[in-house]
Amino acid sequence: MVSPNHRGIFSMLLSFWLLASPVLAIWPQPSSISTGESTLWIKSGLSVSYNGKNGGVGRAMNNIIHKNFVPWMLYNRMELEATEPSLFKPKTYITHLDITQTGKDSSKTFKPLAGEVDESYTLNVDKRGKASITAVSSTGVLRALETFSQLFYQHSKGAYFYTTSAPVKITDKPEYDHRGILFDVSRSFFPMESIMRTIDAMSYNKMNRIHIHMTDSQSWPLEIPALPELHEKGAYARGKTYSPSDLATIQRYAVNRGIQPIIEIDTPGHFGIVALSHPELVAGWDSTPWTSYCAEPPCGQIRLNEPKVDPFLDTLMEDLLPRLSPYSAYFHTGGDEVNFNMYSLDPSVGTNDSAVIVPLLQKFIDKHHARVRKTGLVPMVWEEIPADYNITIGKDVVIQSWLGDEAIASLTADGHKVITSNYNYWYLDCGRGQWLNFAGADLETYYPFGDWCTPYKNWRLVYSYDPRANLTAKQAKLVLGGELAAWSESIDDATIDDILWPRASAAGEVLWSSPKGRAQIEAAPRLATFREFMIARGVKSATVHMPYCTQGLNQTACQYL
Ligand SMILES: *[C@@H]1O[C@H](CO)[C@@H](O)[C@H](O)[C@H]1NC(C)=O
Ligand SMILES: *[C@@H]1O[C@H](CO)[C@@H](O)[C@H](O)[C@H]1NC(C)=O
Ligand SMILES: *[C@@H]1O[C@H](CO)[C@@H](O)[C@H](O)[C@H]1NC(C)=O
Ligand SMILES: *[C@@H]1O[C@H](CO)[C@@H](O)[C@H](O)[C@H]1NC(C)=O
Repeated sequence: MVSPNHRGIFSMLLSFWLLASPVLAIWPQPSSISTGESTLWIKSGLSVSYNGKNGGVGRAMNNIIHKNFVPWMLYNRMELEATEPSLFKPKTYITHLDITQTGKDSSKTFKPLAGEVDESYTLNVDKRGKASITAVSSTGVLRALETFSQLFYQHSKGAYFYTTSAPVKITDKPEYDHRGILFDVSRSFFPMESIMRTIDAMSYNKMNRIHIHMTDSQSWPLEIPALPELHEKGAYARGKTYSPSDLATIQRYAVNRGIQPIIEIDTPGHFGIVALSHPELVAGWDSTPWTSYCAEPPCGQIRLNEPKVDPFLDTLMEDLLPRLSPYSAYFHTGGDEVNFNMYSLDPSVGTNDSAVIVPLLQKFIDKHHARVRKTGLVPMVWEEIPADYNITIGKDVVIQSWLGDEAIASLTADGHKVITSNYNYWYLDCGRGQWLNFAGADLETYYPFGDWCTPYKNWRLVYSYDPRANLTAKQAKLVLGGELAAWSESIDDATIDDILWPRASAAGEVLWSSPKGRAQIEAAPRLATFREFMIARGVKSATVHMPYCTQGLNQTACQYL
């Protein structure tokens, strides 16, 4: 059965879902897929030929053989043992996986600007057990191996692994070049394992950018050897820091999985904590009431007219950027929520008048972006810099939008490249209530203590978002992709998996396949299945469905009717 378009695949999968055995449920949905009904088995030690070198094959096989699951929740009630492939009939094994990389990797393969790496691939598994992958780049090979690993389930009798969907023919490529997660390691400290686990989970979702929001007003966990006082005073505790070798470990771990690390040092706002080591650089540190001077406590912004700021930022960037540029094409300079009122507390500005502040801010951004470009990196900024403060920025700059779609429309109309983190859809920290405490009259005012961006963005809402909606074709091209944001005021290692997954998976499919129609009825069984793969691989994803909905009794079992 060959299905040239998504709608065809939807209805095909729907009809498959009614069968007793589990369907092939690749997540994110490939651009084109056809499957059959033959069973194939796989075991470790299959021969692999690859004209390049790559750790991806070992990881894919490890996931199939050691991190798989018995899909009882996908078979009809009480029918698993009777319906899954018999161990006692002759088995056809996948004997060989032939990988062909048709292009040559370059440094751009591992730290691409949007559009600089070809992630497409084809995957064929014939009925007799011959498997082959073709891709232009090693990144495409990684995406193919991820798909390959999702073909197989574990047998209920033990370490036997099968697919019931051979032959399989897949042709696939992403819709968007920038498919990311914003990971905030400043509000809460995250151990290395947490970051690596997230990188792994992102690779299962074919996501390719991890944006690490490294520092903020609450803590400075990043060790800068030229300025050790920053983390010595600004980390939450000794040891709650990322050393240069930790950073390199994260960078290599990500790049080996086809994921580019993008580091953000937010400036000039969200910089308060630096006052602990460099009070001369920071305006309005910890000023009260904080609601008058910043978005959340403690306040503190880089002073705009203070001669000591430039030498400090020179030192910081000369230390950090050369360690980023081998692995990244971008550096995120921040720029969100600059509070103009705060500058009335800055003795060298002394006013909240934007006629005074904007030219100073323009100078600041010009100099800072020049530092970034000098190291061969492309600056990123939050949307307020151009959209709210009217700062002129280079056309090379990638703007991260979060305030909604009007900004995307007007920024792309001006010819700017944009990624979207629209808070109405893709802010994953929202809707779980306030993290602030209330007292006195505020108890009544703020009851029942919902947060500013409530409601919770459930996976269906995340999935419904179309980053290119309502744009002209020319504007749409400038939307490079998007990032899910998980701001960590009330998220830490113990809860991050449940926050990110499977909601980031829903966005992962929007960014990979741009599913037309966003059909929940089609997506839900695949997402529920993919979620079991994530659980088996150690990612504590939230639940998609109770087994009643996944056991495939009929597709309307859990439809709202
Ligand atoms: C700016 O400062 C003036 C004078 O202190 C004050 O009255 C006004 O409320 C401030 N504007 C904002 C937006 O905070
Ligand atoms: C930016 O320009 C817009 C439109 O001209 C104006 O409304 C806004 O006040 C300006 N913002 C600043 C910070 O100057
Ligand atoms: C697109 O426009 C429609 C109609 O104005 C609006 O309802 C919808 O929210 C817009 N979608 C996006 C993503 O901007
Ligand atoms: C599917 O489930 C619905 C809702 O429970 C039920 O009304 C319908 O009869 C079922 N259809 C089949 C074919 O079992």
